[in-house]
Amino acid sequence: MKKHSVINALAILTLSSAMVMSLFTGCEGPQGIAGVDANENCTQCHNSGSDLVAKISQAANSTHQKGYTSFETRTSCAPCHTSQGFIERIANGAQVTAAEIENPAAVNCRTCHMIHEKYDSTDFALRGSEPVTLWLGGTTLDLGTSNTCVQCHQSRIVSPMPVLAGADIAITSSRWGVHHGPQSAVLAGLVGYRIAGTATYPTGDHAHKAGGCVSCHMSKAVGSLAGGHTFNMESEEEGENLASCVACHSEAKSFDIDGSQTEVAELLEQLKTILIDKGYLNASTGLWKATTAAPLNLTADQAGTLLNYNLIAEDRSLGVHNPSYVKALLKNSIEFWGI
Ligand code: HEC
Ligand code: HEC
Ligand code: HEC
Ligand code: HEC
Ligand code: HEC
Ligand code: HEC
Repeated sequence: MKKHSVINALAILTLSSAMVMSLFTGCEGPQGIAGVDANENCTQCHNSGSDLVAKISQAANSTHQKGYTSFETRTSCAPCHTSQGFIERIANGAQVTAAEIENPAAVNCRTCHMIHEKYDSTDFALRGSEPVTLWLGGTTLDLGTSNTCVQCHQSRIVSPMPVLAGADIAITSSRWGVHHGPQSAVLAGLVGYRIAGTATYPTGDHAHKAGGCVSCHMSKAVGSLAGGHTFNMESEEEGENLASCVACHSEAKSFDIDGSQTEVAELLEQLKTILIDKGYLNASTGLWKATTAAPLNLTADQAGTLLNYNLIAEDRSLGVHNPSYVKALLKNSIEFWGI
């Protein structure tokens, strides 16, 4: 019996891949699925079980699939903001798409998985899950299944980039910085400008890096509100999802363990106030007061403190992604300005 069903499954697999291939081989025109029991293959995923249904409803509640930013379809934005752009980029390794993306799809199952490519369970393999060489700095990160996340949640190129003990720089754009999703850099202790100061920068990786993004953001699902394929850490209805934290922080009652997020929020606010007072940061727009006509001419160290502010503000975890690294960057940046 067992042997037969294996043979059947193989036969169906072969037949249906031949069928799928024939759809794509041009001139003959599309052939119907008559005569082939495609259902046997489809039912690996489309069946009476609830696993797929659960993941679909979780993903539907993710910021990804809501697609607030999938209108960012220009060639330099589409690689991370549209599903088509990401698929194209992973296939050819480019940092831009060949053309603007028409009819954009938000990040969905097909973006991260190979859905409907072979019509078998290998379709759940992750796209872009090989180690990622970061665009900024060129370090290669290997966070396992989280490599797919790193592909998009990485710093964009900062130009000009201040280099420790390096030359002065001129910032000519109000949007100068790492862009909005630098989480993998912070997790790995990269990109921050390690300005000298009394706080010591940690050596080696923080414990939070080992499990990658998925260990926290895809932990035990709270309905379709948080965890699992929602990628959310919290929800308005059920609050913070501490499922992943308690494995190591058994006493955790909130993400603000030992008041660490509160401390980071305060330090960040202090640095922000300094940068506003110095006339670098526009308090109402949150953008730099820099244009090509009126650039910000800064020493590397001065610019480094702007970079650190930008990196940690855009990371949005209030230091959770790498508590000791983030606190050292902030403390030494504040100290630099003599406060
Ligand atoms: C590896 C698992 C898998 C297999 C095998 C599979 N599907 Fe799907 N299918 C999916 C997923 C995942 C979606 C997307 C669900 C979503 O986005 O909400 C999907 C969506 C669909 C949809 C909805 C329209 C669309 O394209 O999103 C149809 C129709 C469909 N599948 C038909 C089939 C048929 C017919 C087969 C067999 C020839 C098949 N599927 C095989 C996983 C699978
Ligand atoms: C390397 C990938 C990548 C590229 C390229 C990229 N983005 Fe993003 N962008 C992201 C990620 C990831 C987020 C979400 C970050 C988060 O939620 O913390 C984001 C968020 C945003 C947001 C939402 C910000 C907010 O505060 O809600 C806007 C707007 C945006 N990007 C615009 C752009 C534009 C415009 C371009 C092209 C000029 C672009 N992005 C290119 C990865 C990218
Ligand atoms: C943003 C990227 C992303 C999107 C979008 C996404 N997934 Fe996933 N999915 C992952 C990652 C990463 C894992 C592996 C998690 C881990 O390592 O614990 C995974 C795991 C899975 C698994 C388990 C696979 C296995 O080999 O056991 C299934 C099934 C799955 N996803 C289905 C879906 C479906 C269905 C959708 C759309 C409704 C979807 N995923 C959307 C990233 C994504
Ligand atoms: C194709 C690029 C891409 C991939 C792959 C990707 N993301 Fe995202 N992610 C984005 C963009 C773009 C946004 C912002 C979406 C928006 O606001 O429209 C985002 C938003 C998020 C948010 C929500 C932020 C908020 O403000 O609500 C979280 C959390 C997140 N991503 C985590 C992950 C994790 C974890 C993975 C890997 C499993 C991952 N992402 C994979 C591009 C990506
Ligand atoms: C140790 C657990 C942990 C790891 C690992 C982790 N995160 Fe987070 N992440 C958090 C917490 C906690 C927050 C802050 C939630 C809050 O305070 O609202 C957060 C915030 C975020 C946000 C801002 C939006 C939001 O949901 O608040 C994004 C986007 C994000 N993380 C993406 C990632 C990505 C991508 C990775 C991997 C490169 C990653 N995270 C790794 C725990 C983690
Ligand atoms: C794999 C184990 C592990 C997991 C899971 C984990 N952490 Fe941690 N976390 C650590 C270690 C180790 C430290 C460093 C302890 C120290 O420096 O005293 C730490 C430190 C912290 C700190 C800084 C505390 C301080 O005193 O400065 C915060 C905040 C934090 N974690 C939040 C979280 C949150 C929120 C989660 C869940 C979303 C989480 N952690 C999940 C291991 C973990």
